[in-house]
Amino acid sequence: MGIYRIAYYSTPHPTLTSDDIEAILKVARSRNADLKLSGVLLHVFGQFIQLLEGPVASIETVMNSIVRDTRHSDIHIFLKQSGSTRSFERWAMWSDYLGGDLTEAEARERDILQQSALKALAELDRQAAIRDVAAPAEAVPLKYH
Ligand SMILES: Cc1cc2nc3c(=O)[nH]c(=O)nc-3n(C[C@H](O)[C@H](O)[C@H](O)COP(=O)(O)O)c2cc1C
Repeated sequence: MGIYRIAYYSTPHPTLTSDDIEAILKVARSRNADLKLSGVLLHVFGQFIQLLEGPVASIETVMNSIVRDTRHSDIHIFLKQSGSTRSFERWAMWSDYLGGDLTEAEARERDILQQSALKALAELDRQAAIRDVAAPAEAVPLKYH
């Protein structure tokens, strides 16, 4: 059966504690196992980066919950793919937060995911900088009193 992959980064709510993240992972692992989803959740550079892989209907179900979850905001999807193999078959939701031994191939996929997210973040910053430079007068109205 074909699988689908989706990845996003988001900004954790500033009051989120380590207990909150553990609670997210507990629910994620149990629900993902039921829905035959696998993936990783990274918490790096003040961002969440998550990859989900599995049947498209399951991804839609879980993403519907995730985008409405107020424990994070500014969700940017930077990867959507279909394929036939999973990268994190053994993990209902691996997390850098809780750890767990990744195979070399899994660790490589995690690094690629992190790099892709950072590239997407940098591109967003670059576009914001271009907009700021293009419209300085509007961004900073000059006032002489
Ligand atoms: C960063 C982040 C990642 C999450 N990842 C998952 C996940 O992989 N699977 C999952 O079932 N819930 C995940 N959740 C929790 C869901 O948003 C939601 O609370 C949970 O699935 C219960 O769904 P419901 O609120 O629609 O009842 C995540 C939440 C956050 C903030």
